[in-house]
Amino acid sequence: MTTSSVTSTTTDFAAALRPGPDTVDLTNDFTGRTAVVTGGASGIGHAIARALAARGARVAIVDVRADGATTAAADLPGAADAPDAATGLHAGFACDVTDETSVARTVADVAAHFGRIDVLVNCAGIAALAPADELSAETWSRTIDVNLTGTFRVAQAVGRHMLAAGYGRVVNIASQAAHVGIDGHAAYCASKAGVIGLTRVLALEWGGRGVTVNTVSPTVVLTDLGRAAWANENGIRHQDEIPTGRFATPDEIAAAVLFLAGESSAMVNGADLRVDGGFTIR
Ligand SMILES: NC(=O)c1ccc[n+]([C@@H]2O[C@H](COP(=O)([O-])OP(=O)(O)OC[C@H]3O[C@@H](n4cnc5c(N)ncnc54)[C@H](O)[C@@H]3O)[C@@H](O)[C@H]2O)c1
Repeated sequence: MTTSSVTSTTTDFAAALRPGPDTVDLTNDFTGRTAVVTGGASGIGHAIARALAARGARVAIVDVRADGATTAAADLPGAADAPDAATGLHAGFACDVTDETSVARTVADVAAHFGRIDVLVNCAGIAALAPADELSAETWSRTIDVNLTGTFRVAQAVGRHMLAAGYGRVVNIASQAAHVGIDGHAAYCASKAGVIGLTRVLALEWGGRGVTVNTVSPTVVLTDLGRAAWANENGIRHQDEIPTGRFATPDEIAAAVLFLAGESSAMVNGADLRVDGGFTIR
């Protein structure tokens, strides 16, 4: 082998390495982006919507509670700075994520209203707790339908728009319950473990087409849903099991979502970001 053939082979390999971006945008600025937040009428979803809107995003609040969606959208930062009275800066949309027709109509309405969808945060969820030997088939099915199949329905419908545009960020809200067993949480744990499995496949299929898909797994978060399950003796014991010694706030979950929803996380794909104070490291 001659020196020149080695050099030319090396040069070819170097040229074949795909470059990344010249600079990474660390500003976390969402100006010009549209974000869809399911379950955005309350709790964690509303905190995420506020954080995105505060950084310039136009936000579609999608929630089964129609009034809640409209009120929450009107309450977001920048709501008063509507580009024109007809469109508004943000908007609320009534949608039941267990109903395929409702999801298809809502995603079409959002795309028509804003002209684009850059970010999707799947946050709609329920927690119906019962010991496994007493859990009704109806509660099991309902939990899987909202938390897991609902996440898939919205991701698929929004993902089609993102794939056509060649850009998207999908963040699915899972839970520490996806990683560990928790008493009374059979359906909930199964649904959230499913969200992580679904996310991995979407990340694999869509990552090469400009759309990243990740999960955030919170510990208990101090929302209505979190308090309903944990404002009891069990909860007081549980907060002592968390290395940081407390439950999370909705804004702490929003901070993690902002990272995964932004420009700078382009190489984070199929990951699960645990915001659990270290509970699941044991
Ligand atoms: N709070 C916690 O401790 C905690 C911990 C880990 C993960 N999570 C997850 O975070 C997400 C938000 O939880 P939260 O504490 O903010 O609860 P929340 O009850 O305050 O908010 C949930 C929202 O989802 C909406 N929703 C419920 N069913 C829906 C449906 N079929 N279609 C559309 N919207 C629907 C509700 O109307 C509500 O606005 C859920 O997915 C939950 O599982 C919560």
